[in-house]
Amino acid sequence: MQNFLASDRDDGLALMREQIALQRRDPDAAPARYFYHSPFVYRRELETIMFRSWHYAGHVSQLAQAGDYFLFELADESVILARGDDGRIHGLINSCRHRGSRVCEAQAGNRKTFVCPYHGWVYERDGALRAARAMECLQGFEKEKLGLKKVRVAVRFGLIFINFDAGAADFAAHMALLDRQMAPYRLERAKIAHRQTYPVDANWKIALGNYLECYHCQTAHRLYSRIHSFKSLEHEVAELNRAMWARSAGSTGVPGLEQSLYRIFREAPAFGACVYTSRYALFPGFKTGSADGAPLAPLMGDFRGFDEGAGDFQFGPLAYMLNYPDHCVLFRYVPRAIDKADMEIVWFVRGDAREGIDYDREQLISVWHQTTLEDKRIMDANARGVRSHFYEPGPQHPQFEDTPRRFFDWYLHALEGDFSVTEPSTRAHRTSSVETAG
Ligand code: FES
Ligand SMILES: [Fe+2]
Repeated sequence: MQNFLASDRDDGLALMREQIALQRRDPDAAPARYFYHSPFVYRRELETIMFRSWHYAGHVSQLAQAGDYFLFELADESVILARGDDGRIHGLINSCRHRGSRVCEAQAGNRKTFVCPYHGWVYERDGALRAARAMECLQGFEKEKLGLKKVRVAVRFGLIFINFDAGAADFAAHMALLDRQMAPYRLERAKIAHRQTYPVDANWKIALGNYLECYHCQTAHRLYSRIHSFKSLEHEVAELNRAMWARSAGSTGVPGLEQSLYRIFREAPAFGACVYTSRYALFPGFKTGSADGAPLAPLMGDFRGFDEGAGDFQFGPLAYMLNYPDHCVLFRYVPRAIDKADMEIVWFVRGDAREGIDYDREQLISVWHQTTLEDKRIMDANARGVRSHFYEPGPQHPQFEDTPRRFFDWYLHALEGDFSVTEPSTRAHRTSSVETAG
């Protein structure tokens, strides 16, 4: 228990430092209550983590034509992702350069220009200020200096990422480390078959921490656990994985798919630029992530067959994918407020697949829709439980909960303002294949 009355203390830097020191005394323990509930920590993690990391914003199919746009929102921030007349994708802070109004409220559409609803300033698709009504009377008014502020944009595999930090290193180059395992899905030509947001009444770290471990899978996800060997300890499914890695290239026609690469959290190539891939086995008889193991859609991209495996990926700290040979599922975690977060799931199929003919939408989404509803239930319960003043962090499993532990170590360093990255450690990660990619 804490050795002071929490209500005696100002919620500030000194308290945060004490809490980090306390947490570090037992680095294997689950996160303390403080990190989920302190408004100071929430503001601090926006600055140190959210505004410095790469975030999945959307897919290129959402910006097919010049003028197409959609909004990316995180906490109180809103970014307009727009296809400019030059064909490039621009990320524009959705706050007017006059008095700061949201310039665009509709979530998606096509615009010739963005007109601020307050006093009518007009912005181009690339954010440049075109017109500011009656302002010519103002001496020294320089339109050129009053374009919408920009965020960094990176595009690879058809996935669009943003970073609020103008100085962030180019993420597209880091994602290239995953070329061998990601490119064969040809996601840039894929289509979004379905997208769904699952709001949770939980701090974002509860939602993300849940994704990062599969200790809960056996208790919470009966359907998932019948299909995916990831719910098991590594030694229990070592043979299954080895056999799948051995047949993977032959069965799918894609060489190198079985190789893994771990550059996540403190071991990322740059701060907030995590990249990860590994391939794990599905249980015998399951070609894909369907309830009966049967294919759900036409094979993706370069795939020529099924290897009874699935590719696990990470892009930045908040976006993940699980890719089967016939469909890909993207998972994104978005902080909304201190005790609210969204999980967004995006299902991709091959670009020419026709709904109702080549795939059935309900069947396609059923496993991950059900699994995500189960996750929502346990996240909400976890969030309610850690509100208790009597919650005391317990021990985490050395293998099952290794990734949440690595995440939290990175997180604590970032809170302290330490954005350094380290060399990949020799400590093995879960489900490492024999070789390392990249
Ligand atoms: S706040 Fe946008 S034009 Fe005034
Ligand atoms: Fe889960």
